[in-house]
Amino acid sequence: MVKKNQILFFIIIVISTIISCKKTEKSIQIIKETRSLKGAFLNDFYIGAAINKNQILEIDSASIKLLVKEFNTITPENDMKWEQIHPAKDSFYFDIADKYVALGKKNNMHIVGHTLVWHSQLAPWMQDITDSTTMAKQVEHHINTIVGRYKGQIHTWDVVNEALNEDGSLRESIFLNVMGEKYIAYAFKLAAKADPYAKLVYNDYNLWKPEKRAGVVQLVKSLQAKGIKIDGVGMQAHWSLEGPSIEDIENSIIAYSNLGVKVSFTELDVTVLPNPWDLNGAAVEQSYEQYEGDPTMNPYPDKLPDSAQIQLANHYKDIFSLFLKHKDKIDRVTFWGVNDGQSWLNYWPINGRTNHPLLFDRDFQPKTAYDSVIALKNSH
Ligand code: XIL
Repeated sequence: MVKKNQILFFIIIVISTIISCKKTEKSIQIIKETRSLKGAFLNDFYIGAAINKNQILEIDSASIKLLVKEFNTITPENDMKWEQIHPAKDSFYFDIADKYVALGKKNNMHIVGHTLVWHSQLAPWMQDITDSTTMAKQVEHHINTIVGRYKGQIHTWDVVNEALNEDGSLRESIFLNVMGEKYIAYAFKLAAKADPYAKLVYNDYNLWKPEKRAGVVQLVKSLQAKGIKIDGVGMQAHWSLEGPSIEDIENSIIAYSNLGVKVSFTELDVTVLPNPWDLNGAAVEQSYEQYEGDPTMNPYPDKLPDSAQIQLANHYKDIFSLFLKHKDKIDRVTFWGVNDGQSWLNYWPINGRTNHPLLFDRDFQPKTAYDSVIALKNSH
């Protein structure tokens, strides 16, 4: 009899343990399904992603599902750049941009316009202009038409992109060469007039560098001295596991914020692959075709090994800890892509590699880095 009771007791224990494990599994599942980046950082800053044409057109529906769940701001990866939206002198192409804005509105998102004045991905017809008056007229037409069309709908504009050299001096772009340095103030003035409520941003890469930081400070100050509206500095944040250092990033956040403008991280990704410019003897140039197909430059073609996964997670944790420390100065953190499969780092700077720079993998699954970033909020 005693034995029978013991067996019964044992069975009950086993069954209740199974039930409680199932319950725990279920609650973990529910937590996983309901947690989100945008929810975690709701009181801190916007969390965004750049989206491409297939996503804007909702052809890539898995991406859209994830986008809507996790992010509350979007940036068009390519479809509002000059060559796309204003391909010929007298014709604009708004089909994709209109759908982009509609997608953002439908999902209540903070909508970013990228970008008005940039030497890269500029329409070829603009590159033929050689006199200042004609160029000024075209820039005016471009800004008035686009900012005007989306007035009150696009909340933030990257007005000028990448106007500085690494040493902080002005880049010899077609705009500088033809119009002189006044083109920057001119673009901001026009944008402010076309939509007085839009937030206006100067956007660039390597803005953690002390010399480039000094260039931005000078640029912002000179706009402010002229009474021209500028609301923010966008640090692109195409970073790597090796750097920049948290200290350099922090110094830039503080320097820009001291000017009375907000800081945004506009194009965040962390490459886990070797960069050609870090190699001994590699020339710093724009084309790295000689490395295409070189397996040493593409070490993780199938999946990211656990050790690298953890390294990436720790790196993202450090970055987001810094962002949280300065959340009063930061408006927005936007990733340059929704998931690893979509990242431009699979084809730049070397074409045909498999990079893993974002928080979601190619199957739209959150990576260890996602957990480490969300955990920062749970522990607060
Ligand atoms: C990149 C896109 O991601 C690529 O698809 C395109 O081929 C080149 O441009 N700085 C910027 C972004 O401001 O617009 C760039 O986007 C990445 C660097």
